[in-house]
Parts: sequence; structure tokens; C-alpha cells
Amino acid sequence: MKVFVTRRIPEKGLKMLEERYDVDVNPHDRVLTKDEIIEGVKDTDALLCLLTDPIDKEVIDAGPKLKIISNYAVGYNNIDVEYASKKGIIVTNTPGVLTETTADLAWAILMAVARRVVEGDRFMREGRFRGWEPMLMVGTDVYGKTIGIVGMGKIGQAVARRARGFGMKVLYYNRRRRPEVEEEFGAEYVPLEELMKRSDYISIHVPLTPETRNMLNREMLELMKPYAYLINTARGEVVDEPYLIEMLRKKRIRGAALDVFWGEPLNVNPELYELDNIVLAPHMGSASLETRTKMAEMAAQAIIDVLEGREPVNRVN
Ligand code: GLV
Ligand code: GLV
Repeated sequence: MKVFVTRRIPEKGLKMLEERYDVDVNPHDRVLTKDEIIEGVKDTDALLCLLTDPIDKEVIDAGPKLKIISNYAVGYNNIDVEYASKKGIIVTNTPGVLTETTADLAWAILMAVARRVVEGDRFMREGRFRGWEPMLMVGTDVYGKTIGIVGMGKIGQAVARRARGFGMKVLYYNRRRRPEVEEEFGAEYVPLEELMKRSDYISIHVPLTPETRNMLNREMLELMKPYAYLINTARGEVVDEPYLIEMLRKKRIRGAALDVFWGEPLNVNPELYELDNIVLAPHMGSASLETRTKMAEMAAQAIIDVLEGREPVNRVN
């Protein structure tokens, strides 16, 4: 049987597939074009793809033998799942294994923007350090502040756990209330408007769906306190990015830390690079060697399960 892999993933996962199937891996070190993906899925039984590969109707129709689309990510907004279901194709993702790693990154960029770590590094390298100064690189405290978590799934909860260690008050908004979380983190369930108004740090952990697209629109963003920060490690499209840029430019809020963007991978707004009250990361939430290896194994295992007639663990449709 044939498997098409749109980008080299850690060896361990590839090996699992290569031991069993005829595997075709993207030979380039870049995202494939849509035409290349269409060509690749032509006579393949399984597709292992990335969040940067739009798997729409056209791609799905190009692979009449496809039995499974295994997404090497927890988010699967890049796939037309409804259409895949209609065609009887199983879609899987890689949840769980990247929870703590992504929460670590959210925390890292939250700390980085609050305490101006990246600016400080740049300052040193430019040879501008003249010794300790009372007002040099003064930032904002994290300890004891209020964090608002938008989306209290696995990653949101992992962030809440970290926030507790920093003595923070935890507010959260979620589609449904989660009493067990309230107990564990002393978290308070509030409407999104109230979360936007009361939080010093707002961290986004919802998947991108029609409901969450542009959820933090301009009206919501305008509710933020002037000293608040926005952290996004979920998907760029959850936030009205042009309006956020505008607010950052006018110093209407204190800062933002972004790991995800409108138009990524190829068309990130260059206006972001001109802002100094922002920390940018290249969509690297799950990027630890341990986690990327586990994701590769999980994505490969889903393909093996389906091609051997078993129900995969992480089916999303
Ligand atoms: C990363 O963004 C993922 O969805 O795994
Ligand atoms: C800082 O280094 C201090 O001693 O306050």
C-alpha cells in the first residue's frame, strides 16, 4: 500500500511507515504547492500532512483511494473534514502529546514580552549595555496578576496550572463551563467580555472553527486594559490581527506575543516586524524534539491502524 508524506517528519515515524508500506516523502525542504499535493495523493492509500497543507475538496477528489488523512498537528482546520467524511475518509490528529510543550511555549513568550527578554537580548548584542539602570528594560510583573484563558481544553488547562505557580488569578472562557477545572485551579468562569476587561494577560487556546474565527474581534480587543498583553499560540485567525496591530502601534495595549499569524506560512504581515511591543515566534508551540517525535509516531500509528483495519485512537470525524 502507498503512503504520501508531505514533509519529512522525525525519522521514528517515517520508519514505522517505511517498514510496512511504499512511502513517498516530499523530497524538498519546503511546503509543497497544491499541485504537488494533488499529484502526490493520486494513487495513495494514506496521506500524512501538515497544518500548512490545505486539504480541500480538490485535493480530496484527487485521491480516490485515500482511506485516511493523518494530520501532523492537533489543529485540523486545514482539512475539509466534512467533505472527507462524506467520502468515507478517516481524519486523525495528534492531541495530548503536545499539550505541555505548547503550554511551555505560551508561557515562554508571555514571560518574554512581559519582561522584555527579546528586547534585552537585542540591546546587549548591539553593545548598548552601560550597566544597571533604574529604568532600564522595566517591564510588567507576571507574578500575582490576572490571566484570562480563552479555551479551557487540554492546553488551556496546562497554562492554568503554570499560572497557579505564579500566584495568578485565573479567569477562563470556554464554550461550556468546566467545574472540575474551577476546583483544580481556582479558576473563575466568566463571559468573554468580562475576561477581556479584567485580564492582565489573555492567552488563547481555542481551535480554529467557524465559531472561533475572529472571536477576538475589534469590539472584544477594545475591552482590554491599557496595560494588558495578548498571547496567541492557537491560530492567527481567532484574532482580528490588523486591528491588533493598530492597537499595538497606538500603544493602546501594552504588548502581544504571537506564535501564529494571518496568512502564514507565506504571507505574514510585515507590519508586525516594525512593532517593538511584541514578541514573535514562528509557529513553534509544539517544537521540542521529544514532542515532535511523539507526534510523528502518533501520526504514523493512525495510518497503520486504518490500513490494517483498526479504529485509530485520534479520529476526529
Ligand atoms: C499546531 O499548531 C498544531 O495544531 O499542532
Ligand atoms: C539587581 O540586580 C539588584 O540587585 O537589585
